[in-house]
Amino acid sequence: MDSFAFVIHPIDPKRDVARKYPLLGKVLPEPAIHFASRFWPPLEISHITGARSADTGKEIEGWLIAVPYTAHRMLTLRPSEVYRKIIAAGHLAEQLGARMLGLGAYTSVVGDGGHTIARELDIAVTTGDSYTAAVSVSATLEAARMMDIDPSDALLSVVGGSGAIGGAVAQLLAPHVGRVLLVGRDKQRLAAVADRVAADATGEVASTTDLGELCRADIVVTVTSSGGSLVQPAMLKSGAVVCDVSRPRDISVQTSQSRDDVLVFDGGLVSVPGAVDFGFDYGVPPQMTYGCMAETMTLTFEGVFEDYSMGKDLSIRQIKQMDRMAERHGFRLAALRSFEHKLDDAVVQRIKAKAQSGGRG
Ligand SMILES: NC(=O)c1ccc[n+]([C@@H]2O[C@H](COP(=O)([O-])OP(=O)(O)OC[C@H]3O[C@@H](n4cnc5c(N)ncnc54)[C@H](OP(=O)(O)O)[C@@H]3O)[C@@H](O)[C@H]2O)c1
Repeated sequence: MDSFAFVIHPIDPKRDVARKYPLLGKVLPEPAIHFASRFWPPLEISHITGARSADTGKEIEGWLIAVPYTAHRMLTLRPSEVYRKIIAAGHLAEQLGARMLGLGAYTSVVGDGGHTIARELDIAVTTGDSYTAAVSVSATLEAARMMDIDPSDALLSVVGGSGAIGGAVAQLLAPHVGRVLLVGRDKQRLAAVADRVAADATGEVASTTDLGELCRADIVVTVTSSGGSLVQPAMLKSGAVVCDVSRPRDISVQTSQSRDDVLVFDGGLVSVPGAVDFGFDYGVPPQMTYGCMAETMTLTFEGVFEDYSMGKDLSIRQIKQMDRMAERHGFRLAALRSFEHKLDDAVVQRIKAKAQSGGRG
């Protein structure tokens, strides 16, 4: 049976360590977890069974492998040290028999977006960023429809617009929206992406390093490697939709709760074809997964064991190809969720009513 492995790491240190080791998660303080994560080897977390292609009926299996670095650790250690542990996780995947390795969350963010890791392994590697971008675009357009926002009249802001996923999302959404504002830290990198986005845009494309400008945006996609809680409540426009693709999230639960006139949702979630069992609760509901894992599974369904979505400059052609392949095998955009809860119609109506009655913006 063709198989894959997917690398995960703790996002919320105490909660995620407790998922595997309830006692350690309870007793270890967060700084101790950050410290200890440096010395822990990669480990097999679970066996994934039951995923079946809706197109071919092919069944695949996989493994979740944890690299115990926290996001905070990966941001502060030298990339060469982080690579070493991800590559060790890749060798573990090879021993298990996997033919495709997906890099989850910061394991694809670090360094050169998968190139160095792929060079050191015999199996194929994907960052999963193509399908993450495609799914985030579909979810954002769906959320705008739910909030009665006409995209062609809206200002889209992409925070982390100079990044791999952010740049691609901006390019894919540009033909649908009125104007685009890229937000980031590096003026030159932002300007280079803005030029690319302008080629497909229907309206003005601008960029800024001032997060405060976010408060003008009707539609926000935030997809950074900031380490979490980047966007503050006062930065959001009343009635806006906000797709948070970042892990750890750029929008904290406190920010979301204090803005009940804004629709904040998790980007990148899809439902999986077949009766999949991930064998471990890694923070998404049963039968669902993140776009990056879905991309790893799609390539395994296809039997395409070649590197995919490598580096920081994603190909729009490859993203569209991945979207079509995933759709064919039966992956579907999941119902929108916000902080582990489904966004049903009643919640959306409440947010809309709040925004229409003046909101907090
Ligand atoms: N939900 C999912 O399915 C899924 C899948 C894959 C990845 N992800 C998440 O997506 C995020 C981005 O991944 P990526 O591969 O696109 O990473 P990336 O290529 O490294 O891009 C990250 C972007 O964030 C920007 N950034 C970092 N800190 C910032 C700050 N304090 N203020 C403003 N901008 C900041 C960077 O700006 P500079 O240019 O200045 O560095 C860069 O543009 C990560 O959080 C990752 O975990 C989610």
